[in-house]
Formats: sequence, C-alpha cells, structure tokens
Amino acid sequence: MCGIVGYVGAQQAAPILVEGLTRLEHRGYDSAGVAVLASGGIRVAKRAGRVRDLAEGLPKRFAGKVGIGHTRWATHGAANDVNAHPHTDAPAGQARVAVVHNGIIDNAAALRHRLTEQGVELVSDTDTEVLAHLIALSGADTLEGKVSEALAAIEGTYGIAVVHVDFPDRIVAARNGSPLIVGVGEREMFVASDLAAIVRHTTTVALLDDGEIASVTATGFTTYRQDLTSTAKTATVLDVDPAAYDAGEHESFMSKEMHEQPAAAERALRGRLDERFGTAHLGGLNMDARETRAIRRVKILGCGSAYYVGQMGAGLVEELARIPADAEAASEFRYRNPIIEPDTLYVAVSQSGETIDTLLAVQEIRRKGGRVVGLVNVVGSAIARECDGGIYLHAGPEVAVASTKALTNMFLGFALLALQLGRVRDLSIADGRRLIDGLNRLPAQIEEVLAQEGALAGLAERLAEAESLFFVGRVRGFPVAREGAQKFKEISYRHAEAYQTSELKHGPLALISEAVPTVAIVPADELTDRNVAALHEIAARRGPLVVVTHADVDLGDLEGRPDVERVVVPRNERELDPILLTVPLQLLAYHAALHLGHDIDKPRNLAKSVTVE
Ligand code: G6P
Repeated sequence: MCGIVGYVGAQQAAPILVEGLTRLEHRGYDSAGVAVLASGGIRVAKRAGRVRDLAEGLPKRFAGKVGIGHTRWATHGAANDVNAHPHTDAPAGQARVAVVHNGIIDNAAALRHRLTEQGVELVSDTDTEVLAHLIALSGADTLEGKVSEALAAIEGTYGIAVVHVDFPDRIVAARNGSPLIVGVGEREMFVASDLAAIVRHTTTVALLDDGEIASVTATGFTTYRQDLTSTAKTATVLDVDPAAYDAGEHESFMSKEMHEQPAAAERALRGRLDERFGTAHLGGLNMDARETRAIRRVKILGCGSAYYVGQMGAGLVEELARIPADAEAASEFRYRNPIIEPDTLYVAVSQSGETIDTLLAVQEIRRKGGRVVGLVNVVGSAIARECDGGIYLHAGPEVAVASTKALTNMFLGFALLALQLGRVRDLSIADGRRLIDGLNRLPAQIEEVLAQEGALAGLAERLAEAESLFFVGRVRGFPVAREGAQKFKEISYRHAEAYQTSELKHGPLALISEAVPTVAIVPADELTDRNVAALHEIAARRGPLVVVTHADVDLGDLEGRPDVERVVVPRNERELDPILLTVPLQLLAYHAALHLGHDIDKPRNLAKSVTVE
C-alpha cells in the first residue's frame, strides 16, 4: 500500500519523482521521500505528511538524474520523518546506498539484532533500514550482486528500488509479493509500483515477477532471477489511456469514478451476454459445462466493500442458480482452518488484486486443493495470477479509496457468473433472457440515479450533521445497507452501522431518536410491507428516515412527513435491483464528506490497497 517510483535518464529526477508520488498517494500517504544520486553522493529529502509537504520543503538545489521516491503507509514504526523512506546506510553526506521498499520483512527483528551486534547503528524503527545496511555491507562487485545477496538474507515480501553511489548510472529493483514495473521511455527509464506513477511518461512496461531483479539504466534494462541468471524479460505496450489516471474536471477521483459507472458497466457486459441461449459467456473461468454443473456450493471471499458486494453476489448465485452460496471476510477465513471442499467454487473478489488477506485466502484454498476463480479489476495482479481462472472487471483504473465503479462491476461479474451457473441448471431460458434484458438496461438506469446528484447532495448535508446513523435492509437489501454504511463511515467519519431491518426490534431500536437518522433500503419486492412496518416503528420513535426505494412503493402515512425523505431509484429485475439501490448511497456518502470538508480520495487511516495483514 506504499508507492514506489524511480527515474534514470537525462532530466532532473526530483520533479518527476514528486509528480509520480502524487499519483501514488492514494496507496498510502502518511509520509514521503525522495533520494537522488548527485555528484557529491546521495541526497535525501523525506518527511511525515503528504507529498505536497515534501514538495514544498524540497531544497532548491536538489540536482540529480537518477533517483527513487516513496510514499508510505506506516507498518513498522510511527509515521515520522525518520521512518519515512528512502532509507540509507549512513547519515546524510556519508550514505552510499538508498532504498525504498513496499511490503514487510518478516525477519527484520533478527536482522536488526545481528546488524547491531556488528556495530551498525540503526536510526529508524523500520524493517527497510536493514536492507540498506545489508546492501552496503555486501562484498559483491556489482549492485545487482549486492542486492541479490541482501535479498537472500531476508524473509518476507518486497518491492524495492535501490541506488548506490558506486553505480551511479542505475537503479536496481526487485519484486517478491509486491508489484513492481519497469517503464521504458526515450533514453530514460522508470521504475514504479503502479502504472499510475509513470503513465504520463510511458505505457511501455515490463511487469516483474516474484523473485525477479531488474537492473535499469537510462538506455535499457536487464532482468534476472535472484541467482542472477537472466530472465530476459521484454517490455510490452499496455493499451491504457493516460487520461484515465487524471481526475480531469472532477473535483475528486471518487466523483469521476462514480460518474464513469454507466460506461464501466457497459464494458463489463460487452461480449459476455448470449441472448440466444439466455446465458453468459465467461471464457476466463476455464470451466466447461460439466465442471460448472458439478459445483455444489459457492464461497465468496473479499475484504471491505468487496466482501459486501460478495454478499450481494452470494444472493444472486442462490437465487439464479439455486446453489448454496455465502460470502465471508477473507481476512478471517484462513484463521479458522477452513474446510476446503472439492465441489465448491471459491471466488476471490478484489479491485486491486493485491489485498493480502484475500491473496492469502486464495493461497490457503489452493494449498488444500480447492478451485478458486478471481473477480479482479487489475489485470495481471497477484490475485489474478494466483487463481485458476477469473472474470476481469474492466472498470478501468480506480484511484479513490472508496470503491464505486469497480464495486458496480463486481456486482455485474457476479450476475454473469450466477447466470452461467443457473443456465447449466434449472434457470429457464426465459429467465435468462429476462436477466440479460435487465443487465442491458442497467447502465442507463445508473445514469438516472447519478442525475439525482443535486437532490442527494442536499440530503447528504443534513445526514452529515448526525453523529451516528443506521443503514438497514433485508435479504437483498442488507448487503446494500452494509455497503452504504461502509462508504459513509469511510469518508465522512460518521458512525454508520448496518443492520437487518428485521433485527432492529431485537436491540438497536433502543438507540433510535431524533438525533439518529436511518437510511432504509426498501425495494418493491416480497418484503416491502414488512419493511414499511419497520419504518413505522422507527418513525414512532421520532427517528428521521431516508427511504431508498422504488416509485411504486407506498409508504402509507409516512409519506409527506418532514422527517421522512424518499430517494427513488429506477426498477430493474428484482435480482439486479441491489446495485441500483447502492448508487445513491455512494452519492450520500460523497456529499456528506464533501460538506464536512474531508479529503475524499484519501480518507484518514485508510489506503486503497492493503498489502499487509
Ligand atoms: C481496503 C479499502 C476498501 C476496499 C478493500 C478491498 O480496505 O479501504 O475500500 O474495499 O481494501 O480492496 P480490494 O482491492 O481487495 O477490492
């Protein structure tokens, strides 16, 4: 969840590094730093705070054409100036090596002890600092050799970039469990943990594999295994639009990404719907009809919003395919020694494809011989590579921490999966076609919800005044409520709690008052009357209500009350309604956070991809 960028070429490195870091900040942002190779040695500038603080404090004379930068999300040690990366082997002026690192060195404590006994003075609390010393102490003749030797001593995960005063023409980078790419420019080269950092300069990149080391100079790069035998990797041109990494005229990435949902949804569906047979084509699953038919259970694993949309997905699979399905927090899964069944289809769902809890769940399943497919946005990411097959989400790059367009496409991925599973079982062709029609209507209907932004903004400002809120729903509506509460708390920092509407009277009703609004999900379905009855119980306790519902739902005498607001979303097929009910909750959370003046794309204490346990 930290970000790495490196530059070697004919230009001054520092401005390119700082700009790259700005584009990585969503991944982690409690401190940042850069190191450049200058004629007199290594110069380092680093500090706690945002990249803009680093940029403002950067010395005027910070010349150097080879450099590395890092934006950090603290894991080992507090977020302060000393713990910020890059880390060096000696104080300013004497340093020979500088290192930036993503990931965690598991045996850092033992290595620190060993280095201290050798007389090395460690100044930070980080695991990374040991790497700088191990590289500096290595007797190998080349920087590649020194890095390889140092890596042999460590256990854990890393993406690293290293510069050394004795090898002033290069950066050596290495990857094990933490993404790293090499970018190829015109007589200049880049290293980055994420394409976002360098996309304005190049889209010609080589993706390093786990266990690979790259040696990068201004004119080219060479890749090696850890024993320094060549892997001869070549670069490929990625088909991406650099504009996708800019917020453009939007005030934030979250706003941009919410509004991209109709187009993103169309991409997720394109080429995957088979109207003739009323089914979906998901070639990436790598499963034929016989294997698909043999599945007796579906288990979905994800974290945060991916977990909640996984619950929506489990509902879709049960309804359409009549296969028992459930979702579980991937962060818990492996700790209960899970029973892995041969006829269960495991589905790992993740925007980034990097979330360590989800990745480790996948590894646990594979280790025990289970079949796992991925619903992943980032192509070639760790989870995508680890799975037996998968469904790419095609949402395009998602930068805001709060997931919107990727989440919508996750839902669509589940709908396609459920359709395919259903159509090899008892789902009729007519029902299959009904759902395909519904899926085709969704993008325009999402647009209709987004068009209500003005009215939702006013509502959100009133909700933002409350210290505490409930989000409630039943069956299909419950994961919608959970996701709504998640968004609200993530970016507005208000206490938002999701409950099954049916459970209100079993406890939380005690908290309902004028000061505690409830956002209730009340679709037109077989539970509408029960839901409306619960709304009356809330209203009777003077709890303000925001009812997210369909036009034909009758709220009875709640209609027109000043403390009851109605948000109307278009109706689709009942199985697909959850995603349309989710979109206004994104807008509510967004405008509440905007009203409260929060940094929407980078909420406090959170990072876009959580690559540590
Ligand atoms: C973090 C983010 C959440 C996100 C979750 C899963 O916790 O703060 O917003 O839903 O990771 O991310 P993934 O990339 O696996 O979908």
